[in-house]
Amino acid sequence: MRTQIGIVGAGPAGLVLAHLLHLRGIESIVLETRSRKYIEERVRAGLLEQGTVDLLIETGVGERLKRECLTHHGIELRFNRRGHRIDFDDLAGGKTVTIYAQQEVIKDLVAARLAANLPILFDVEDVTVHDFDGGASPSIRFRSAGKEEVIHCDYIAGCDGFHGICRPAIPASVLTTWGRDYPYAWLGILADVPPSTDELIYAHHGDGFALHSLRSPAVSRLYLQVDNGEQLAAWPDERIWAELSRRFELPGWTLEQGPVLDKSITPMRSFVCAPMRYGRLFLAGDAAHIVPPTGAKGLNLALADVAVLAPALDALLHGDDKLAASYSATCLERVWRSTHFSWWMTTMLHRAPTADPLATQLQLAQLRYVVASRAAATTLAENYTGFAMH
Ligand code: APR
Ligand code: PHB
Repeated sequence: MRTQIGIVGAGPAGLVLAHLLHLRGIESIVLETRSRKYIEERVRAGLLEQGTVDLLIETGVGERLKRECLTHHGIELRFNRRGHRIDFDDLAGGKTVTIYAQQEVIKDLVAARLAANLPILFDVEDVTVHDFDGGASPSIRFRSAGKEEVIHCDYIAGCDGFHGICRPAIPASVLTTWGRDYPYAWLGILADVPPSTDELIYAHHGDGFALHSLRSPAVSRLYLQVDNGEQLAAWPDERIWAELSRRFELPGWTLEQGPVLDKSITPMRSFVCAPMRYGRLFLAGDAAHIVPPTGAKGLNLALADVAVLAPALDALLHGDDKLAASYSATCLERVWRSTHFSWWMTTMLHRAPTADPLATQLQLAQLRYVVASRAAATTLAENYTGFAMH
């Protein structure tokens, strides 16, 4: 097999990159270790920045998104049994955020690719990347339906997520990495019950953080801070609802309960690696950086990366290295902003496991400031709704 760009991974980064390249008349092959069903059903986050929505609509994969999405003009911060609204219309120059689940974005992109008869291979195994560090033409080896295959290409895009093979294929001596594992995790549920709120609620509570999000007028998405290493078996539905109700408690407000459709526990981590390019291999999305989910920046960062990468590859194929040379620095500017914002939201809202009483008072002081000061609320609003894409 031969193509221009070999793309490893069919997450948001890999699929949007393939789509943007196609619009520029550039060929690619997408390789994915999981099945189509798996990637289309896996429940992940679902909050899109304005720039992400605009990108999907402008490139022709936003039709269903436009019909089914929920547009939000603010969020609520809840602490000390009081709610405080952060108003994006007022504070973020009219920018909004959009609820549309990641797996729906994935379904739309896979459908577009298949409708255009473009190559995407699911269920591949033992993917390895070769000869990307010099002038030679790189290759990707893998097994598909039991057969050994090779793709020869001009460039490789490593869009294979945090646990992928592309980042580890770069010599460790050329990469600098920064990381932190947070001492807590999120237990997320999808529930067959109308949301008890019109806008997202981020709740600070002595027992830990809770988030009320939504997927549709009939389906709620909720998250609960739990200790690292907690097992789902210890969290029957009744315990989850009781804990959520306590953490969202507000006089005159009730959390509606319903059947739990999906349940999972996600660890929380900040991670950045630099540079995001080594020779003919480019990293994008979670392969290069991870943020904790407070603020929902992961998917948005992945799309921001490939919005920079597609024109850079286009120029490279025409012999111009300028955009490719600045790819890493351009992306890392936004990556570090989001890394800081996600860390800030996370540490402001989660209970530290040491139950350090000073830490709790500092969090509450910060929360009171954010809701009382227009400058502080604006900082939250402009970071949350996101900055313009390149
Ligand atoms: N070969 C091919 N595909 C691979 C390999 C491999 N060796 N390893 C992993 N993959 C696939 C995964 O199965 C996954 O479908 O790469 C894809 C990577 O997708 P994501 O993990 O979603 O990463 P990315 O596209 O960068 O999107 C980042 O999506 O999942 C969220 O939290 C994440 O919001 C963030 C955003
Ligand atoms: C979600 O809807 O899944 C979601 C929303 C906001 C977050 C994280 C996740 O901060």
